[in-house]
Order: sequence, then C-alpha cells, then structure tokens
Amino acid sequence: MSAETNDVETEARAADSGANASAQFRSRMAAQSAGRVIDTERIGRVAGRAIAALNDIVLEEKVSYEEYNALKAWLIRVGEDGEWPLFLDVWLEHSVEEVANEHREGSKGSIEGPYYIPDAPELPWNGTIPMRDDEPGTPLVFAGQVRAVDGTPLPGAHLELWHADDLGFYSQFAPGLPEWNLRGTWIAGDDGRFEIHTLRPAPYQIPTDGACGQLIAAAGWHAWRPAHLHLKVSAAGHELITTQLYFPGDPHNADDIASAVKPELMLDPRPNPDAEGEIVDYDFVLDPEA
Ligand code: DHB
Ligand code: FE
Repeated sequence: MSAETNDVETEARAADSGANASAQFRSRMAAQSAGRVIDTERIGRVAGRAIAALNDIVLEEKVSYEEYNALKAWLIRVGEDGEWPLFLDVWLEHSVEEVANEHREGSKGSIEGPYYIPDAPELPWNGTIPMRDDEPGTPLVFAGQVRAVDGTPLPGAHLELWHADDLGFYSQFAPGLPEWNLRGTWIAGDDGRFEIHTLRPAPYQIPTDGACGQLIAAAGWHAWRPAHLHLKVSAAGHELITTQLYFPGDPHNADDIASAVKPELMLDPRPNPDAEGEIVDYDFVLDPEA
C-alpha cells in the first residue's frame, strides 16, 4: 500500500463516517416509510416503557443535575456527529435482530451495522471482490452452497458481501477509498454454489474521536469489534438473511462491543493448498418466505 493512500485513509474522522452513515440511513428510510400506519397504542406502550426505565435508573442511581446535564450535552453531540446510527447499531441492534430472527430454522443472523450499501457490483459465482491493486491483507477464498431448509440447492441466490479493509475502514464511509472497494454481490451457480475471492478483514474499532468514542473512554470500555465479514444472502421465495461471520482466535470474539458474535457464525479457515492465503467453507440455509 502506498503511504499516500494510508495517510488519506487514516484521516478518517468520526463526524465524516457518522454523517455518511446518517445520510445513507435517511435515504433508505425514505423509501421504506411511505404508507406506514402509526399504531398509537403500540408507540405509547413501548415509548412509555423506555421512559419509565430511564426514570427508574435516575431514581435508583440517584443521578445528579451535573450528570443529567452531562447526558444532555452528550446526546446533543451524538446528533451533531451523526453518530445515532453507530450508537444504535452497537448497543441496541443485537436485541432487535434476536427478535426479528428467532423464528428461523435456517442460518443464524447478526446485526447489519451502519455500513451497508445496496446494489454493490454483481460478480459471477466465483468472482473476486473489487479491491485496489495494492490492497493489503491475506487472500481468503470463501466457498459454500446456498440451500433451502429442506436441503434443496438455491441456484441464482444472491450473496452481498461487505467488509472493512486492513486498517478497519469501510468504503463510502472513510475518505480515499474507491467507491465499491471490498463490496460485491455474487450470483450463486446452478447448484447454489459460490466461491468468493476476497481478503481477510482486520479487527474494527468504532470511531474513537466522536461522541460514542467519548462515552467509551469515559466509561473505561474498549471500542473493538472482532474481524468480521458482513453478508446478506437471498433467493426468490426465501427470506433474506443479514449476518456476519467471524474468525477464531480474535481477542474480541468474546467481548465484541456490538454483542453480535454467535458460536454458529465462527469460520474455520485453513491454509489454501492451491494458492497463497486461506480457504474456508460455510453454507447458508434460507427459510421459506412467510
Ligand atoms: C458498527 C460498525 C460495524 O462495522 C459494525 O459491524 C457494527 C457497528 C458501528 O460503528 O456502529
Ligand atoms: Fe462491520
């Protein structure tokens, strides 16, 4: 990697990735929310419980005015830094994901996080992910099959993959990266098989210079997520699954800040006998559409 690329990329700031994540979320929400019906009873109950839970904490912990004002200032800053998507995806999305996917018999899901972009370039079943000529990292071949819960292969299934680069940055959210760097959509072959050629991602630290980083430092926590691959796997007539896959031995598998690791999502890579780098097998099983 050239020093120049490195410099530009490491100038990434929380407020920039936060602003990009907020803008991305807003445009996807706008498309989804047309025609939505407001259920007053439901909103009153859930919002009422959230407010009651916060009041209980204030009373039990005897929260002072100084602490209350620090909270107000911090919440204002989360908005200014555009970090609401980051905050919610790190500390709340895992529970929403648990509720959303508890009915599934097929593959386990995990959180989407703030850095998904739809419509990444389409690649054949065995294509190579878009990357820079000098992209640093260990080559990784990720092979498997997409099937239905009854074992039927799902030809033409789509596998969307996105992941961080060797410095922990995502394209379109950090400066200096090509638009679709380390993002692609593979179309599975006739037998539902795929062979994804990519690189092993690095562990990822959520931005430390914004409001979320300020909370993490003040609370004495760490900001790390273990190295992970993000995937969305889908096929006609089946429920799309959003998930993540992890690598054994990562020190943060056991204390992911986003609480998004599950034992079923652990890969088992081995040295690739035919090429430099590693190879790993992982199959996906999709539930039928309800
Ligand atoms: C965040 C970033 C991720 O890459 C991820 O997978 C989950 C959450 C975040 O910064 O909020
Ligand atoms: Fe991520």
